[in-house]
Parts: sequence; C-alpha cells; structure tokens
Amino acid sequence: MKVGVAREIKPDEYRVALTPAGALELKNRGHEVLVETTAGDGSSFPDAAYERVGATIVSLDEVWGQSELLLKVKEPIAAEYGRLRDDLVLFTYLHIAADEPLTRALVDSGVSAVAYETVETGRGRLPLLAPMSEVAGRLAAQAGAYFLEKPFGGRGLLLGGVPGVAPGKIVIIGGGIVGYNAAIIALGLGAQVTILERSIDRMRHLEEVLSGRVSLLMSNSLQIEAEVADADLVIGAVLIPGALAPKLVTREMIAGMKDGAVVVDVAIDQGGCFETSHATTHSDPVYVVDGVIHYCVANMPGGVPITSTLALTNATLPYVEAIANKGLRAAVDADAALAKGVNVIGGKVTYEAVAEAHRLDYTPLEVALAA
Ligand SMILES: NC(=O)c1ccc[n+]([C@@H]2O[C@H](COP(=O)([O-])OP(=O)(O)OC[C@H]3O[C@@H](n4cnc5c(N)ncnc54)[C@H](O)[C@@H]3O)[C@@H](O)[C@H]2O)c1
Repeated sequence: MKVGVAREIKPDEYRVALTPAGALELKNRGHEVLVETTAGDGSSFPDAAYERVGATIVSLDEVWGQSELLLKVKEPIAAEYGRLRDDLVLFTYLHIAADEPLTRALVDSGVSAVAYETVETGRGRLPLLAPMSEVAGRLAAQAGAYFLEKPFGGRGLLLGGVPGVAPGKIVIIGGGIVGYNAAIIALGLGAQVTILERSIDRMRHLEEVLSGRVSLLMSNSLQIEAEVADADLVIGAVLIPGALAPKLVTREMIAGMKDGAVVVDVAIDQGGCFETSHATTHSDPVYVVDGVIHYCVANMPGGVPITSTLALTNATLPYVEAIANKGLRAAVDADAALAKGVNVIGGKVTYEAVAEAHRLDYTPLEVALAA
C-alpha cells in the first residue's frame, strides 16, 4: 500500500504521524512510504532520516494525491477539505463530534476516516489517547513547578523543599492517567502530594501502585475546598467520558487560594474543571485570576513534540501496519478495537455519538461496509 505522512499545518503543532523507525517497519513489509517534505522537522526527524530508511520525500500535492492510507496527527482543517477523496483512508485524531464542518466534509468526500481517539479496546480503554494523557500529566507537574518560581509570577517556592524546609503541596483532582502521571513526577520532585478521586476502586489501585506515598481523598465539594485552600499547585485532571468537565473548583475557592499559587487545568480540552479556566496556547500559556496563575494549554503534548511523537507512534503503528497489510475492511473485521475507530466511511457516519451530535443518520459499520 502507498502510505503517506502529511505535514501538520495547525498552529503550535510540531508532531508527525510516523517516525523513520515506523517508516522502516512499513518498508520491510513491502509498503511504499511517502513523506511530505519537512513533515518530521518539528519532532527532530529531518527528511534525510526518512530517506535513509527508503521513504520518498514528496510535495503537499503528491502526499495527498497519491497516498492510499494517509497518516496525520491533527484533524484536517478547512484548507485541506478539498483534498479528501473516496479512495483514501485517513487515520488521525479527528474529534468530529465537536466539528460539524469537518464531519460534513468527510461525509461529502466519501473518504474512510478512522479516528485515533475512538479506537477502543476492552473495558473502555482508549489506547491512542492514553499516551497523550501520560505526556500531559507529566508535563502538568513540570509546568506547575516552573510557574511557581518568582520570576514567572509564582509564590517563589521550590516544590521539593530542602532539608529543614518543608516541601510544597500539590493537589491533583482526578486520579486517572493524567493524575497518576502528574503524581509520579510530583513525587519525584519531592513535593507533598494529595489526589482527590471519585472512584474508590481507582483509589485502591493508586494506593497499591504508589505504595502509600500520596494522600488519597474522596472528591467532594467540601474536601476540594479544604485541600485547594492551602495548596501551592492544583492540577485538574478529571474526565467524565463524553461530557464536559465538571466545574469542581469555584471562583470563590480560587479567590481563597494563596497569592502566587498555580493551577494547571489539564481538563481544559473538555471545558476545564476550574470555574476561572479558559484555554491558552504554548505561546501565551498563563494568565492570573485573583493572584492565582492559571496554566490552561489545550494541547499540552504539542509542547514536547519529540516525546509526544514517539509516544503516539508507538501506539498507532500496530494499527497502521494492520490497515496497510490487510486493507481497512479486513483490518476492521479482524480487530473490534480498530473498527470502533471508523467514524465515517463511503459518505455514512458509522460512529453513533458523532451522528447524534450533528443530527445525521447513523449507519452501523457492518451495514456501511456491506453497501
Ligand atoms: N490539555 C491537554 O493537552 C490534555 C492532554 C491529554 C488529556 N487531557 C485531558 O485530561 C483529562 C483527564 O484525562 P485522563 O486520560 O486522565 O482521563 P481518565 O479517564 O484516565 O481519568 C479521569 C479520572 O477522573 C476521575 N473523576 C471523574 N470525576 C471526578 C470528580 N468529580 N472528582 C475527582 N475525580 C473525578 C475519574 O474517576 C477518573 O479516574 C481529560 O479531560 C482529557 O481530555 C488534556
């Protein structure tokens, strides 16, 4: 199969959908790999690194025009809609339940659109979202530590303390993948860590894996208010699947925090869990409300593209190989997790939540494939 890798053109996006190592795996299986020129630059993979493993460097028109399977990181933007076609399989993050124009462009073009974020293995696991949550969680503790420094507007506090001086206090709301990863970096920095969770089973698990090194508390309004009041850094990491994040920290709680404390709202991509949050970017990541620094970058993994690209492609490559080796139809027949990734095919919406979101007809994948 001709597998293409398009260059990302969204602002602040430096990831690439395939590494030279991945390109070599595909070449070894007899596939042709077309990489748009400079696609890997932002992740420190120059064109020459792809050429060395036998990939062909091509132009924008060639990568979109000649590929049978096109790999991207972010969803196509309006300038790319005209390039979608019915004999193309597109594999990328799509998030189309929140994007009606893109959904219509996918439907109208007849493209087969497979979304990373809806590939789902047993027990609701999302293997192509998890690596980005790992990155964002680890980065959250790091960003919080940075903005606590006085020159960046923070309290001027070292999270780890020193012998004879108490460490800083980090409160993490939500102990899922983001929360766990934030906790291990926070512990590594030497901070005092509290996780507020709603699921008792999840807290039992965290107790086991973190060997009692964090305080685990039930998440409710009273507990959140008490913990946030004397925190130096609060990290918001909750998720209610398919819903906007609940506003767990109110404006009053923010006003009651220490001057120069920091909040990092990782859940901002779901609307945020602090009442005072609004999305920011890597080029302008923070703002201040009532003396509290807010870091609310909506695409945190984009800030560390080398790590994020490797983490993402480690997870996507097995699915890319399956589609390239078998073709999309046989690949989804063989793997129910990948089948859940198909959002649109042959002009039909095959992901129920997307059809509902835009009041379009839903066609089960088996029916769409049989047509
Ligand atoms: N900003 C970014 O760049 C970025 C990157 C990756 C993920 N995210 C976001 O981070 C958030 C967390 O993602 P995740 O992968 O860790 O999800 P997850 O499902 O692994 O974990 C979410 C946790 O929140 C808990 N929770 C739900 N309601 C709660 C409440 N009221 N109080 C306390 N805990 C509660 C759940 O029990 C669960 O353990 C999501 O909104 C995700 O979209 C953002």
